[in-house]
Amino acid sequence: MTQSTTALAPGAVIGIMGGGQLGRMSAVAAAKLGFKVHVFTQNVTDPAVEVAHAVTLAPYDSPEALESFARAVDVVTFEFENITADALDLLARHCPVRPSGRVLRTSQDRLEEKTFLASIGIPLAPWHPVTARADLQTAMDTLGLPLILKTAQEGYDGKGQRRVHHPDDLNTAFDELAPHPLVAEGMVDFACELSVMVIRGVDGTIRCFDTVQNRHWHGILDMTLAPAPVMEETARKAQELACRVAEAFDLVGIMGVEMFLDHTGALLVNEVAPRPHNSGHWTMNACPQDQFDMHIRAVAGLPLPQATRHADAVMKNLVGPEDMALWPEILKTPGHIPHLYGKADARPGRKMGHVNVLFPFGALPGEFGVQDALGALATKTAAPADMEAID
Ligand SMILES: Nc1ncnc2c1ncn2[C@@H]1O[C@H](COP(=O)(O)OP(=O)(O)OP(=O)(O)O)[C@@H](O)[C@H]1O
Ligand SMILES: [Mg+2]
Repeated sequence: MTQSTTALAPGAVIGIMGGGQLGRMSAVAAAKLGFKVHVFTQNVTDPAVEVAHAVTLAPYDSPEALESFARAVDVVTFEFENITADALDLLARHCPVRPSGRVLRTSQDRLEEKTFLASIGIPLAPWHPVTARADLQTAMDTLGLPLILKTAQEGYDGKGQRRVHHPDDLNTAFDELAPHPLVAEGMVDFACELSVMVIRGVDGTIRCFDTVQNRHWHGILDMTLAPAPVMEETARKAQELACRVAEAFDLVGIMGVEMFLDHTGALLVNEVAPRPHNSGHWTMNACPQDQFDMHIRAVAGLPLPQATRHADAVMKNLVGPEDMALWPEILKTPGHIPHLYGKADARPGRKMGHVNVLFPFGALPGEFGVQDALGALATKTAAPADMEAID
């Protein structure tokens, strides 16, 4: 289908592939703009199902289900990356798909993603493809040790990755990781991790939220600081990189661009995600239009206001049973703005919700102030050694 720039009218139906929390929060944003949401998922217990106008429960690759879904909606978007681009191509025969199957195809495969980003001159961590065991030696010779082996496809929250510190462990890591091919990356000694949410409209309008800092705990995003406590020029360069990536992808919708800031002040792109992103959840309380609102606007062809921020913010993820045990405490804490995803089972490592804490604009406190504001939630967020370098 050719891309129409006509804005969807209130009452139009937005189809979302995937039923997770990103779909749930997108659906709520869509409802605020007067749209109805039709969720396509395989699991009736998914978080987005509870807030959807209509639901298709079917395998993601069922041509019949995809076809009738496409006929029932005015536009399709997706909230997770483990659907096939072929499914999106099938949907695109009937209605606009935003972002496109091409964007998904490239970004869901680390090898294709890195090849594409390198081809447009985006700085990346050093990497080497590992399609067969024989590539391990060349990867080690090129990148040195330690290195990280990652599956090219299907990884998330640090799953599908092994850190290799010793040559003897290379083969084991290769055998343990599936599916192949893999990509080997040199370990970046980063000062901190940053990300930018970039939104691009059907007419090419491009908007960026402020650059934020992300801290991980055991491979899972733990907290986001907005704005990132880095030099203004670094934050601006990160936004420029994100915009270049979105333009090159001809993106329509939102994309999270994850980066490393190294100790020389250089930015290296880690990966991109063409959907709302956990590191953009702070916008739900600190911005007039949050990431979900901006995403839905882009997908529906509505005007995109500047992605402004009226407060500084810290976003703290609620992960697994340990964090959910703090729920009663969170509810009692002034200033903690809770968001739960409606997942029944708090399995270890599962993202159950998040809490936003706001500060006056320009008044994001230093490390101790942040910990203090997090109260009971501060337990596992001890400052990494590198924080002093960037505070
Ligand atoms: N080359 C690298 N050098 C140093 N640290 C890295 C490197 N690659 C990944 N990491 C660390 O592991 C984290 C997860 O890696 P990555 O973003 O590639 O995987 P993911 O499974 O897609 O994670 P997520 O779903 O949280 O985005 C990164 O945010 C970073 O903390
Ligand atoms: Mg990542």
